[in-house]
Amino acid sequence: EKGGFKHYMLKEIHDQPGVLRQGLESHLLNAQIALGPVQELYPQVEQMQIVACGTSWHASLVGQYILQQVAQVPTTVHYASEFRYAPPPYRPHTLTIGVTQSGETADTLAALSLEASRQLTGTPWLLGITNRPESSLGRLVPYVIDTRAGIEIGVAATKTFIAQVTAFYLLAFDLAYQRQIITQEKLELYLANLQKIPNQLEWILETQTPAIEQLAYQFQEVQHVIYLGRGINFPIALEGALKLKEISYIHAEGYPAGEMKHGPIALLDKGVPVIAIATPGTVYDKVLSNVQEARAREAHLIGVGSAANSEIPDLFHVNLTVPEVPELLSPLVTVIPLQLLAYYIAAHRGLDVDQPRNLAKSVTVE
Ligand code: M6R
Repeated sequence: EKGGFKHYMLKEIHDQPGVLRQGLESHLLNAQIALGPVQELYPQVEQMQIVACGTSWHASLVGQYILQQVAQVPTTVHYASEFRYAPPPYRPHTLTIGVTQSGETADTLAALSLEASRQLTGTPWLLGITNRPESSLGRLVPYVIDTRAGIEIGVAATKTFIAQVTAFYLLAFDLAYQRQIITQEKLELYLANLQKIPNQLEWILETQTPAIEQLAYQFQEVQHVIYLGRGINFPIALEGALKLKEISYIHAEGYPAGEMKHGPIALLDKGVPVIAIATPGTVYDKVLSNVQEARAREAHLIGVGSAANSEIPDLFHVNLTVPEVPELLSPLVTVIPLQLLAYYIAAHRGLDVDQPRNLAKSVTVE
């Protein structure tokens, strides 16, 4: 049932092109985005707040970026475990979104229940983005987007992350179009670019795996790794670091690259690899100059960037190549090499990749 792969995690990483294809297909009807009843709230929503944990929280940060930058909806993201004891003041016309692959995460459910109790009349404005609509979450919220990634067995979330991020793209694009923030042509362009991504993910999996597998051997003695990203790829730096921590037990931190000089740069030396996401877009030059600073501290530099950028090969010691895609969609491609790298590092160490120590697939207690 692992489809010839050594671990579920590797299978699920390879499932991602299909998951994305399926996610798009099931939420597009006659070239229109079809997200179901939640669409009835669009005209009245003034802001959004998202509650989630772990990888789902990272997907939510990508969601926040898209909702704010494309749909122009003010959006905040909260750790569910923090929100439940210190929620922001209640504001009407707020859509609260709970993002949880399992639909059973205790903190996320508690945060949503708390929010429901503050909304005194009518149907609560609660939307769940989940891979398990039949879960406790499904019973708690009136609106659901089913991410349809198929059951995920590896404790490390991979394909469900891609599916959650896809749900946010569709939500933001639909909202932006319905509110006339973007034209029909723009919407069609976004969707056409999104539909190209599955093949691009296949390209990454086919062409980059050998180099990543090799690179992973160089991490046998490493104890700390820094991940850098900016803008829409800052959450991907966090996600890359979380994947490494949870399955390989190597200490890793994700930072917005511009924050380096405010403290973390003191950690850098030859023994601390720096993995930077440097794909074309608003903050591309900024990331490259942050990487130069790390280079001056003799850090071993690994870049996740697109093949078309001639600067990249000179700056980094190792390049993990992703196809050039619009900046807005880049998290879908940049996360893949980081998932693979974490996987091969843990697998080379002989660790139990699918069942890492101290972790459970769903955290149903506080
Ligand atoms: O089921 P959920 O999406 O609510 O789970 C949230 C986190 O526990 C989960 O994403 C966790 O961080 C993963 N093991 C990460 O790979």
